[in-house]
Amino acid sequence: MKMQFKTIEYNKQNNEIIILDQTKLPEEEKYMKLKTVEDMYNAIKNMHLRGAPLIGVAAAYGVVLAACSDSSADVIKAADYIKSARPTAVNLGWAIQRMKDKIGDEKNLFEILLKEARSIENEDKESCRKIGEFGTDLIKDNSKIMVHCNAGALATSGIGTALGVLYTAKSRGKKFEVYSCETRPLLQGARLTSWELTANDIETYTICDNMAATYMPDMNLVLVGADRIASNGDTANKIGTKGLAIIAQHYNVPFYVAAPISTFDLNIKSGNDIPIEIRCEDEIRKFNTKGIVAEKAKICNPAFDVTPASLITNIITEKGIIKPPFEHKIEKATKNVQ
Ligand code: MRU
Repeated sequence: MKMQFKTIEYNKQNNEIIILDQTKLPEEEKYMKLKTVEDMYNAIKNMHLRGAPLIGVAAAYGVVLAACSDSSADVIKAADYIKSARPTAVNLGWAIQRMKDKIGDEKNLFEILLKEARSIENEDKESCRKIGEFGTDLIKDNSKIMVHCNAGALATSGIGTALGVLYTAKSRGKKFEVYSCETRPLLQGARLTSWELTANDIETYTICDNMAATYMPDMNLVLVGADRIASNGDTANKIGTKGLAIIAQHYNVPFYVAAPISTFDLNIKSGNDIPIEIRCEDEIRKFNTKGIVAEKAKICNPAFDVTPASLITNIITEKGIIKPPFEHKIEKATKNVQ
């Protein structure tokens, strides 16, 4: 299955990265060029590209930008700087570590790092494809499926994780409807998921986040992505995911997480240790640049929440479907993966 857009592409001739600017969607399909490490840091921080796997791939190419001219020591500094752009998606630190592990003496540094970045990108594409293959059996004909945020092709360099499952199911001839939560405050569901699903002829309803409990009793399953999964299966994903999981359990609706092995963090035992990004107040205070909140009101803006493992039915990975109890199975699945 081929998407009609490319989220990221490295141009060796000009040592630049071309990304689809996701802040402009769905009005404009506009591409932007990133030429420096600072450009990449800002693109990740300001979410011109986003989604855990894509952030990892982009970060790796960001290191390549530095390797074109800098010494090994400076490339390491650049890598650490890119890593600091966003704290929650573990794919960012994971990709940066893979790149740093390849930094030795200066000889052939650029080619070595470019090769590694390309491997990270190709592995991401392949993981998405396999997640789609493993997940497709969970989609029964005529299902209604609730999704949150954007865990699609826009969030990866391949066909996506959660939405990759849907594309694969569609290619097998299955019929289903998707209910996409708008995902306040940055509207990844409304702006991005509805755009890419409808572009691929998948019947999509966009609902406001506060309509989830109303529609949940009609759902056959909930399917979401992940930014970091702890050793025990606790899963950080876009804010609002935990609420969906609680509602799904209330109505006995299966709740599936789709994520590549690079999203697991075996260094942490539980979700309590996952760092949650707090984003700027204006994302809540303003709507389309217009102020909508009383000036004296304070703002909370955590970008992610943690769904306890006990609310998750299965985790779909490129190594297969992990069923509870998760702990030892997660350890086993993550072995032999870089
Ligand atoms: O803040 P974002 O848009 O980067 O958050 C993205 C998500 O929460 C996705 O669900 C997650 O990264 C998985 S993407 C395959």
